Amino acid sequence: MEESTLTSGEIPRQLSFAEKARALLYSHPPRVAILATIFAAEQTDLKKRELIRLFVASLFHDAGKICVDGILKMTFNDCKLSPEDKIKMDTHPIYGHKFFTWLGLPKIAEIILEHHERWNDRDHGYPRKLKGEAISLSARILAMADALDVMIAWRPYNHLKNIDEAIAEIHDESGKQFDPGLVEPFCEFVEKHRLLIRFLLLNSPRAKSERNLGEPEPCPN
Ligand SMILES: [Fe+2]
Ligand SMILES: [Fe+2]
Repeated sequence: MEESTLTSGEIPRQLSFAEKARALLYSHPPRVAILATIFAAEQTDLKKRELIRLFVASLFHDAGKICVDGILKMTFNDCKLSPEDKIKMDTHPIYGHKFFTWLGLPKIAEIILEHHERWNDRDHGYPRKLKGEAISLSARILAMADALDVMIAWRPYNHLKNIDEAIAEIHDESGKQFDPGLVEPFCEFVEKHRLLIRFLLLNSPRAKSERNLGEPEPCPN
């Protein structure tokens, strides 16, 4: 669309759309990758090779979404997914896994496949409904970093939280969504690296929204 054809009411929507596109493609995955990898390096025994795999898997953990039918509509309408769309969206770890398997990187593929599995909540984990240590350590770490970033930086279908609220929610999910052995060190890590997290958030839709690009429009009932 040419700039001259935009009305004054359309311009914020255009900016908002561009910001969401940038969030999906560029800003969410690197933040998750940085947080997951620094945490793993500081708090776990993962070796250098495993840290590199975790970093790459985190960078591409949601890349499978580009294969999901209707992803643009689902991602950019700011509304809760319908049950049908949720089923489609839940296939994205499978597409990411297929792609990295095709690349000949099966260990990275496994981490991507497992990033939405839940420690002790098979009803909501997917796609394989794994439990506990059947989920790789790297995927358990990625799941926490992913959840943190979604809560504080960009939550398309829900309210954003501040860092304290996000820490509280991660605590609440200890032993349910998240590995209880990782929750405490992860929350301490978040406390310790508040400054880094705030810096990473400068490139988020939250920061843009706080600079008055406007809140997303409310979902229709
Ligand atoms: Fe995902
Ligand atoms: Fe994600």
